[in-house]
Amino acid sequence: MIEEKLKELLHGMSLEDKISQLLQISGGGFEEENVLTGPNAMYDVDENVVYNVGSVINSVGAEKMKKIQSKYLEKNHNKIPLLFMSDIIYGLRTIFPIPLGSACSWDMEQIQYSARISAKESAVSGQQVTFSPMADLVRDARWGRVLESPGEDTYYNCQYVKACVRGFQGEETSSGIIDVNNHIVSCVKHFAAYGAAEAGREYNTVDVSKRRLYENYFPAYKAAVKAGAKMVMTSFNVVDGIPSSGNKWLNREVLRNEWGFNGVLISDASAVEELVTHGVAKDKKAAAKMAIEAGVDIDMMSPVYIKNLKDLVEEGTVSESLIDAAVWRILKLKNQLGLFENPFGGADEIREQEVILCDEHRTAARKLAGDSCVLLKNNGILPFDTKKKKIALIGPYADNKDLLGVWAIHGESKDTVTVLQGIQNWIDETGTDICVEAAKGSKFVCDTSKIQSFGSIFEIEDESGLNENELIKAALKIASDADVIVLALGEHFLQSGEGGSRGDIRLPDCQRELFNQMHQTGKPVVVLLFGGRPMDVRELNEKADALLMCWFPGTEGGNAIADLLFGRTNPSGKLTMSFPYSVGQVPIYYNEYNTGRPYKPEFEKTRFGSKYTDIPNEPLFPFGYGLSYTNFVYENICLSSDKMYQNKGIHVSCTVKNTGSFAGKETVQLYIQDKVGSVIRPVKELKGFKKIFLNPGEMQTLTFEITEEMLKFYTAENKFEAEKGDFVVYIGKNSKECLEKKFQLCG
Ligand code: GLC
Repeated sequence: MIEEKLKELLHGMSLEDKISQLLQISGGGFEEENVLTGPNAMYDVDENVVYNVGSVINSVGAEKMKKIQSKYLEKNHNKIPLLFMSDIIYGLRTIFPIPLGSACSWDMEQIQYSARISAKESAVSGQQVTFSPMADLVRDARWGRVLESPGEDTYYNCQYVKACVRGFQGEETSSGIIDVNNHIVSCVKHFAAYGAAEAGREYNTVDVSKRRLYENYFPAYKAAVKAGAKMVMTSFNVVDGIPSSGNKWLNREVLRNEWGFNGVLISDASAVEELVTHGVAKDKKAAAKMAIEAGVDIDMMSPVYIKNLKDLVEEGTVSESLIDAAVWRILKLKNQLGLFENPFGGADEIREQEVILCDEHRTAARKLAGDSCVLLKNNGILPFDTKKKKIALIGPYADNKDLLGVWAIHGESKDTVTVLQGIQNWIDETGTDICVEAAKGSKFVCDTSKIQSFGSIFEIEDESGLNENELIKAALKIASDADVIVLALGEHFLQSGEGGSRGDIRLPDCQRELFNQMHQTGKPVVVLLFGGRPMDVRELNEKADALLMCWFPGTEGGNAIADLLFGRTNPSGKLTMSFPYSVGQVPIYYNEYNTGRPYKPEFEKTRFGSKYTDIPNEPLFPFGYGLSYTNFVYENICLSSDKMYQNKGIHVSCTVKNTGSFAGKETVQLYIQDKVGSVIRPVKELKGFKKIFLNPGEMQTLTFEITEEMLKFYTAENKFEAEKGDFVVYIGKNSKECLEKKFQLCG
């Protein structure tokens, strides 16, 4: 529709119509005979409102979407189509690894492609918006939602979210139209700094300095906006004392004025209503005023706007122009998606059958899952050789289909390839003379009351009938004549994600008992670890022969893991979030500050150093860490000059050689340290990376440009600029093992 017509449409709408566009309700309400009952009852509104809302959430499926849209448009007197939005975080039906897993691939091409596939499956299923990527920087493994984040590094998270936005939205036409048949709008979330919840406790207070916001937490949201994300979602938490959904500075000053964002800002679910609970609005009417003035366009799943904005406008407390501006952004978005001409968007029952879970998509999911797993330990037992005649596959995840993680709400476990199926597939495909036998070995958790279901979406499997002794006995039996034990252990998928904060990040006692019993057999033990967070794996690391972090690897998880176990895939995953030695260290992250008394070994004999008395400072596995079946040697780091002048870069290069017997991929990482600044500076910061492939014996010289932009930070005067002085550049295989060279920025 041409903009003039769109403007006429807006000006022809009543105040009630306009306010209804700012409400998002559950699409399930339209599936009921009476649209006012079921999930819509909570809004306590009449039919006129329900047939005037602007968007619905989580109604997925071409046929379902067409039915809802048709039913809605029959009664909507402005003929403004609904927007269909949903949580498609890492896949619709073809589920990829959780973001904290796929981030470990350091492969932006694959990450963009996975978003592209998710978008395609979503578009044909009638979706136009996904609430993804989550750009929250995370440093605390107690927080359940780390599974949705790319990790602890600002620079890396910016690259990751850009790849996601490009994959989801594709390239716009010159007139800003999105190809709604194959792409969907990306709504980046949760703005801002939700990952800094104190003590890792869900929905807890966030209190970080503006400096940290600008240096660490803001950049990834900004990167998504600059990559073209057309929507942003507020976070539940406060920022500088004011909840995001009522924070004018955050949304109007930073997001819109400083970053130039002109898209739609949606609240998180019921976050507008929660302004009252936070204690910044005395009642829902005050909350409505606060949120609309703070720039929140859509009130997700709360009746605050719909019940209060009309009075606020009519009594002159809120200007109608604020409502018009919000509605205009929503109408523009619908128009960019072509919904006025084709209200069904890309919904297509035939394409749905062709596209969803097609071989191409499964292949992509298998590849990314294989490149997302991180080999944390290997004494040489992996990859298996054919001498391993019998594999005893033991553990709750041995033959379990729940490899999708909790935030794959449209994925179906029935589509998942389990570890047992993956190994059996490999044996069948290769005709190798190996047999595999599986046993559960232990429950997921000793007491399922410790896990809450995920609303009505996921219920908890009842393990009460399982006798722990009988489970272990059966496991020991199949282990007794095995050549190797593969233990598939991990946190239950409902123990992470939203509402999944944990104070104890170890495996549950029943699984640790199983591990110890298997270790005591004296057989080689390979641990496959499943989970949505870095865990305390000290015990496993000490005693296992190999330890592979598999995250929640998605639909093709079993095949990807078999590829890794038998060497079809050489592990190349590297951590994007530190694995703490124990929960006592968190929050822990590599790019820390030096402090006035940085740890030195001699401190072991004295009190007065920055250290603990009972645990080390160092994480068990640092940011950027991950092993391969081969070995990469870094040599000959050199600089084009050790003096750098402003606006003129220098180059640093290094050779990397594959000295092992396997071909493999290696992510070479570039870090920079600013030795002295007008404010404290991190001990090092990631500024670049390149993932390369080397055959055995092959070597490659990599060159990175060091630019002045890389050296910029928010100075004591809050200017974003580089300061002259001494720097160190590091090139390495992870944040701890690097070669280094000094250089100066001379001005
Ligand atoms: C949830 C989450 C958010 C999600 C939204 C809609 O509470 O915080 O990430 O997109 O509600 O489901």
